[in-house]
Amino acid sequence: MRKKAILITGASGEIGQALITSLAESSALPILTLDLHAIPPEIAALCSHVAGDILDHKLLARLVTEYDFETIFHLAALLSTRSEFSPELAHQVNVDGTLALLQVAAEQSQRRGRPVSFIFPSSIAAYGVPNLDVKARDRRVKEWQWNSPTTMYGCNKLYCEQLGIYYSKHYQQLSASRPMMLDFRSLRFPGLISAYTVPSGGTTDYGPEMLHAAAQGKPYDCFVRPDSVLPFMAMPDAVTALLQLAAAPAERLTRSSTT
Ligand SMILES: NC(=O)c1ccc[n+]([C@@H]2O[C@H](COP(=O)([O-])OP(=O)(O)OC[C@H]3O[C@@H](n4cnc5c(N)ncnc54)[C@H](O)[C@@H]3O)[C@@H](O)[C@H]2O)c1
Repeated sequence: MRKKAILITGASGEIGQALITSLAESSALPILTLDLHAIPPEIAALCSHVAGDILDHKLLARLVTEYDFETIFHLAALLSTRSEFSPELAHQVNVDGTLALLQVAAEQSQRRGRPVSFIFPSSIAAYGVPNLDVKARDRRVKEWQWNSPTTMYGCNKLYCEQLGIYYSKHYQQLSASRPMMLDFRSLRFPGLISAYTVPSGGTTDYGPEMLHAAAQGKPYDCFVRPDSVLPFMAMPDAVTALLQLAAAPAERLTRSSTT
């Protein structure tokens, strides 16, 4: 019989490490983690780790035969700056990888007749405001406004939100018996600041880097113009948001993707 579990992909990253710690306190289900890299030793005891690639279909097929995933937190991704340097690889990891995980969740939902929750951290990179005048005018935007990303990462995130909505609402809609769909939920995060880890590969890395340098009494030479304004969020709030989104009753949610 398959073992019930929560799957976290990209678990060795910044959000993953914080999420494992919180989930281990709040959930009775075992946590399975999947990442190219090892889990830091101080939290390794809180989960079972598989070192591997989300693009490895054989590996995913093996996990599906062993586990029944109640929830999938799909965090594995190439972040924004790395994605601009390697757009094809970004597309493979961010889009093909997400598609593979959505397929896993879709098949598991059908097999067990109950939706698998699929939690996807998207990004404010999904927005693209054309210039500073418009940015100053439209300080608050709705989820559906300015969905014109200007980066590979932003394109990947916006498209994956749409893929998630497709798999949760329209997948196999032409088949005679409508299958059980997965339950896709996504949050568009701003830059995140953790007290314990430093980011790499993202557009907003300068924010946390500056704070970590200040905390160590070190100078920091920031390349960003002084009048630049970017939103940030503290890591514990981001983790709480993911857990609350995962726990929210479906009938209370008005949309699948939110900021
Ligand atoms: N940190 C932020 O400021 C922020 C903001 C918005 C959205 N997000 C999203 O949240 C998620 C997690 O972000 P993070 O800050 O923890 O990023 P991170 O770079 O710290 O972690 C990403 C993890 O994914 C893993 N990974 C990459 N490619 C993989 C592959 N092919 N197979 C398996 N694992 C792979 C990496 O090894 C890494 O541990 C990402 O989807 C990111 O886009 C993060």
